[in-house]
Amino acid sequence: MKVLVVGGGAREHAIVEALDKDDAELYVVMKNRNPGIARLCRDILYIPETEVEKIVDWASGIGIEMAIIGPEGPLEAGLVDELREVGIPCVGPTKDLAKLETSKSFTRGLFEKYDIPGNAKYAAFHNMEGVREWLEKLGEYVIKDDGLCGGKGVKLSGEHLATIDDGVAYAEECIRKHGAVVIEEKFIGEEFSLQALSDGFTVIGSPLAQDHKRAYEGDTGPNTGGMGSYSDNDHSLPFLRESDYEEALAITQKTCDALREECGEPYKGVMYGGFIATKDGVKCVEFNARFGDPEAMNVLPILESSFLKICQAIVDGTLRPEMADYMKKATVCKYIVPKGYGVKSLAGAEITLDEDHIKTVGARLYYASVNEENGKVYTTSSRSLAVIGIADDIAEAERVCESALESIKGEVFMRHDIGTPDAIEKRIKRMRGIRG
Ligand code: GLY
Repeated sequence: MKVLVVGGGAREHAIVEALDKDDAELYVVMKNRNPGIARLCRDILYIPETEVEKIVDWASGIGIEMAIIGPEGPLEAGLVDELREVGIPCVGPTKDLAKLETSKSFTRGLFEKYDIPGNAKYAAFHNMEGVREWLEKLGEYVIKDDGLCGGKGVKLSGEHLATIDDGVAYAEECIRKHGAVVIEEKFIGEEFSLQALSDGFTVIGSPLAQDHKRAYEGDTGPNTGGMGSYSDNDHSLPFLRESDYEEALAITQKTCDALREECGEPYKGVMYGGFIATKDGVKCVEFNARFGDPEAMNVLPILESSFLKICQAIVDGTLRPEMADYMKKATVCKYIVPKGYGVKSLAGAEITLDEDHIKTVGARLYYASVNEENGKVYTTSSRSLAVIGIADDIAEAERVCESALESIKGEVFMRHDIGTPDAIEKRIKRMRGIRG
């Protein structure tokens, strides 16, 4: 089967690897040369992933039979709509359905209209009238830019914004940039990601993962696209109750049904919910319309079932819960990022690594936003490499991941604290404190 994958990061490397197990004939659109992806695919179109017309022309010329869209940018640009026009079915929502991610006010409104549990108290603003009063009423608040910001558009009181004046200034910046801002209550709890697969009717969950958004150890520093994530062998997380998974999945199913009703067509793709476990149960922080990055690397490498068959069932509308089995393994993923990442990345610096060593210690390597030239690997302004340890428990997966990291050199950094017993224990204690 001729399959197109759009995107050139570590998430797409994991997608391509999963499809390659089924001998799909793979074609990829990416901006830079990702060497991990390049090795596994038949041909590559090197252009930005939002150049819809060129992608559609290329795909129909090759005779692509199915497309899988990695990042959110092409979804917002309407790539799925245009591919479908030329008869190519897609794993990924149309522009309208992708508002689930691209418009925070759309999703909050959807929750309200369809009475979906887990919503926040919120208000959307298109000008500054009433912003200060709403911030004062909330006390603790979250401000979300109502447009795509590469995971960096959300700012929280007490973390990124110290005062009401800071909140007012940031809200003004969002309105200037994207014409709207959403301001909502701040939930107190531990966040987790549930990446569900949907054919627009049936929704199936995958192992939960927890991402680390802050650049530096101890959850400090600027927000990033995600510095690493972990998952547990029981597919839940050590600080959660069993009911938390069920609540998050029920919210996802209700959202899938509401989207079908609201947009008049089924949502086919990944519904990646950012959830938070609070003293009042599970709340929804946001939804994304794609796999998480890094969280894709916590689930795809341990998927035992055929990813190609799952994708086929998504586009055909024949998805069934028993189609996705995952190994009972824990995973720890750490991102290697260029020096300065989160503030001003050092792009163009060489990274050296020993792939044999990484394999020997039992870890997996996924290339991210690097560029390969003359057999050498260089940083770009974004994340460079993801290393994953997979083992029977989180502590062992973390050790495997750390052993692999020893062989990676260059002007880069990473968070060594992700998935360590100390970091996990801190989260369990915090959650216990919150729930009493
Ligand atoms: N894990 C953050 C994201 O994929 O947006």
